[in-house]
Amino acid sequence: MCSIIGYSGKLNLAAPLLVDSLKKMEYRGYDSVGIATLNNGNIMVSKGVGKVAEVDKELNLNRLPGQIGIGHTRWATHGGVNDKNAHPHYSCTSNIAVVHNGIIENYHELKTELANEGHIFKSQTDSEVIAHLLEKYSRISNNDIKKTMIETCKNLKGSFAFVAVFDNGIISGARFDEPLIIGISSQALFLSSDVLGFLKHTDKSIFLDNGDIVILENDNYTIFDDSGNVVQRPLTQVAWELGSSEKGKFAHYTLKEIHEQTSTLLKPLNDSNDFATFCEYLQRASNIYITGSGTSYNSGLLGKLLLSKYARKKSEVYMSSEFQYFSDTIEPNSVVIAISQSGETADVLHSVKKAKETGAKIVSIVNIPTSSLARMSDSYVTLNCGPEIGVAATKSFMSQLMILYKIVSTLSNQYVSLEGSELKNLQNLISKVLGLDDKIRNLINSLDSNIKDIYILGRSIHYPIALEGSLKIKELAYIHAEGIAAGELKHGPLALIDQESVVIVINPVDETHLDVISSANEIKSRGAYIIGLSNLRNEVYDAFIELPKVADYLYPVIEIIPLQLMSYYLAIKKQVDPDYPRNLAKSVTVK
Ligand code: G6P
Repeated sequence: MCSIIGYSGKLNLAAPLLVDSLKKMEYRGYDSVGIATLNNGNIMVSKGVGKVAEVDKELNLNRLPGQIGIGHTRWATHGGVNDKNAHPHYSCTSNIAVVHNGIIENYHELKTELANEGHIFKSQTDSEVIAHLLEKYSRISNNDIKKTMIETCKNLKGSFAFVAVFDNGIISGARFDEPLIIGISSQALFLSSDVLGFLKHTDKSIFLDNGDIVILENDNYTIFDDSGNVVQRPLTQVAWELGSSEKGKFAHYTLKEIHEQTSTLLKPLNDSNDFATFCEYLQRASNIYITGSGTSYNSGLLGKLLLSKYARKKSEVYMSSEFQYFSDTIEPNSVVIAISQSGETADVLHSVKKAKETGAKIVSIVNIPTSSLARMSDSYVTLNCGPEIGVAATKSFMSQLMILYKIVSTLSNQYVSLEGSELKNLQNLISKVLGLDDKIRNLINSLDSNIKDIYILGRSIHYPIALEGSLKIKELAYIHAEGIAAGELKHGPLALIDQESVVIVINPVDETHLDVISSANEIKSRGAYIIGLSNLRNEVYDAFIELPKVADYLYPVIEIIPLQLMSYYLAIKKQVDPDYPRNLAKSVTVK
């Protein structure tokens, strides 16, 4: 959940390249940042708390001299957010520096052992043990970097990727259950957590396998396995579009990505990669499981309801962090649909690994076709919605829904219709709802600035949207929000409602409409402020956001947009950065 980058090349000074790469990967963690460069045989480290641009401004990171180097943005797991815990970490003699992503589970034992041997630790991180282990084994092996890396990796338990710079001019990295990719150009070599770290310079990459160790020396790279055998890995050409991630005319990536949904909506439907095979797996399966985390879990919940309601296919949906505990109940001939924008979420990868061990087939829905999840899957389809930089998922959620609709349409023999004209119409309607932007901003601005609780009510297929809307409000605006199945209100949550509560009701005119109106009346009589999302105005609403009319099953796609915009404007009203919510990271690669 941190980003790591290593650079060895002739392009230029290392520091500006490293800083630029880190800015591109900041979504992976952004509480502190640091780089280390090698200059005239000395490793120089500069690091501090804050986002890349802030720390760069304060410390002039990009002026650090040196031709090769490493860099890091952190999402704290072990040790508080402070300068000392920021990466890179030095070995005792400062002849090695390390950046790390992941968790070293046995760091405590290693730290005690190394401290007893005389190593001095300067941080509270688990990562620092790597620098000291490298130092220990480079001494023992007489600076043989290959042996040093192998011995160090042998001692580490957990899921990790790290990159180290040695004062003899070598950069080396290892990948054990966290991503690490080599970027190769005629001028330079990169080691990076994400292709975004080097895509500006090259589209040629090698995705390392688990257990791979790589050494970059001058213009050459060598990959070997954890026993030291040299291995070859295929060269992959990454799509350049992945790197197109400018904010354009928008103040934030999040707002840009919300507004992009008119165009990204149809893209997953055009991408036919493996779709027929994907559906065949589902058609043949005796049991279907769906798993994902955060927003991807919410789309999985809707997927389950759509499959059951419109395709008469039963499935079970589990949060990925929970699924591992039920993998022993997976029966023969099961298929798991794993949903993950990044394809790198550790909870998802872990649950999929456990499901695979039972013999289940894995079909996945990912945005990044080169991701670990895609590569672990028997079949995958892609969202094709371009890079999503805002930490809170918006356009990727919509694209996940579109793929789920496409699946349901295929399995329901077109009962759920996604014919050309309907899709065109849907696209127009989405743009119409996005046109409510000003109205929604004014509505949010008119609300009390000290809102403590927001409840979102929905029934049936609108309930997962209530959950996703409340997740967006929590993530972006740090306000307590809860999605509630409207019928459950009277079984407990009603006790929470008072004159200070804000309640959003998702209430299109369908089979759920009248029941939700009753719930809204019950809430209104307790003094709460009610915002209605519907295609029919009702006097119970204090504020009304008008939804256009669509086929009943497509309402979720429309409903989520006002909720995304509300969350965004709540964040703006609170003056917090919607693109980089505190304590969160876009790609959570730790369990
Ligand atoms: C993180 C992000 C969430 C996201 C979740 C799953 O927790 O903060 O916004 O929904 O990961 O991400 P994935 O890439 O697996 O869809």
